Amino acid sequence: MEKALEGIRILDMTHVQSGPACTQLLAWFGADVIKIERPGEGDPTRSQLRDIPDADSLYFTMLNSNKRSITLNPKTPEGKRILTKLIEMCDVMVENFAPGAIERMGFPWETIQQINPRMIYASLKGFGPGPYEDCKVYENVAQCCGGAASTTGELHGAPMMSGAQIGDSGTGIHLVAGILAALLQREKTGRGQRVTCAMQDAVLNLCRVKLRDQQRLAHGPLKEYPQYLNGGFNGSVPRAGNASGGGHPGWLMRCKGWETDQDAYIYVVAQSQAFAALAKLIGHEDWLADPEYNTPEARLNKLDKVFAEIEKWTMTMTKMEVMATLNPLNVPCGPILSMKEIAQEPALRKTGTVVEVAHPERGKYLTVGNPIKLSDSPVEVRRSPLLGEHTEEILRNLVGMNENDIHAARQQGVI
Ligand SMILES: CC(C)(COP(=O)(O)OP(=O)(O)OC[C@H]1O[C@@H](n2cnc3c(N)ncnc32)[C@H](O)[C@@H]1OP(=O)(O)O)[C@@H](O)C(=O)NCCC(=O)NCCS
Repeated sequence: MEKALEGIRILDMTHVQSGPACTQLLAWFGADVIKIERPGEGDPTRSQLRDIPDADSLYFTMLNSNKRSITLNPKTPEGKRILTKLIEMCDVMVENFAPGAIERMGFPWETIQQINPRMIYASLKGFGPGPYEDCKVYENVAQCCGGAASTTGELHGAPMMSGAQIGDSGTGIHLVAGILAALLQREKTGRGQRVTCAMQDAVLNLCRVKLRDQQRLAHGPLKEYPQYLNGGFNGSVPRAGNASGGGHPGWLMRCKGWETDQDAYIYVVAQSQAFAALAKLIGHEDWLADPEYNTPEARLNKLDKVFAEIEKWTMTMTKMEVMATLNPLNVPCGPILSMKEIAQEPALRKTGTVVEVAHPERGKYLTVGNPIKLSDSPVEVRRSPLLGEHTEEILRNLVGMNENDIHAARQQGVI
């Protein structure tokens, strides 16, 4: 079956996580992704956080599946000639070098546009234009500067980072949206364009509800959750602990076994629609006739007591038993699943969200497949390429080089 992006060729000059997450998604949608890597070393993540000596790391293999790899040094004259030819042959170019690096290579946007006016040139940086535009940025820096860290953590504790890579993979996915929109627009205009996405901006976009609260809490006291448990407003959005970001009160509850199992918890949303059923279930039918408890407004200043009573009940069962009991009552809840549990979850394997891939250097490994499912564009996750695995076939078929040219380029360290 033809894939959604079949026929689209991507020049992938990305490294580490943010850019590779973007191009991997495009590859899963069927684009031919050609990853350009530095001769001899490749993407630095190939050798970062290695678990098997000399084999490409999981960091690399889990972010670069379904791509082809070519080694090329565009700082050499022959490298520049080859890159120019590849720019002519591709539809989209993606890069996440430090600010200024692509220009120092000799390929600013203006040059790329001249070489190929249909080129969509997508760039991912830490910051947009402004005082920090020249800074190098990694995940946690973006979480700090995008509003995630100041709103994450215990109410009276220090700011905290999220395990979700919202700055890296989150920005990469934002960039995918921009590239797809630009490809569609090119259908009408015939022209490529520049697509940029900054990590700070993408993180802020994902923290939209916190900027909402910055404004609404300033208008308080309010009659709606979240007001954050017993916390006053001191001028900026407080760290939310485990409070939910929507309008329904929720909290994390301990379950049976929590003393020894770090993941024996469940998140329970005590929303008003299901509150009566929940109150009855935990032995608090009295709340339903009590004006101190029987409306969301009345409960607002005593949610900690409500959650404590619910927790007394959740602690009598395992998290899965709690889930099985609450779901039929329409009480939204979710057990804390460890990575070990997720890796073994049969439903995720069945949908291809968790897949096992064979690799010549490291054997079988698990990876996260495409979370976005298209009914007419199925995804087969293929292993990441070895460094330069496709150099010769790309130089021969796309750049038109013969064996002698390729040999010479190798001798000169161009590839
Ligand atoms: C991630 C980041 C901090 C890494 O910084 P870094 O390791 O110093 O890497 P850089 O991007 O600065 O690239 C280093 C050099 O390698 C060079 N290089 C990259 N690929 C090359 C290749 N194939 N051949 C020759 N040189 C190459 C670059 O041109 C650059 O050289 P220069 O600075 O001398 O001009 C930086 O790239 C960055 O801020 N990127 C944007 C934000 C981002 O994506 N961050 C998240 C990453 S997950």
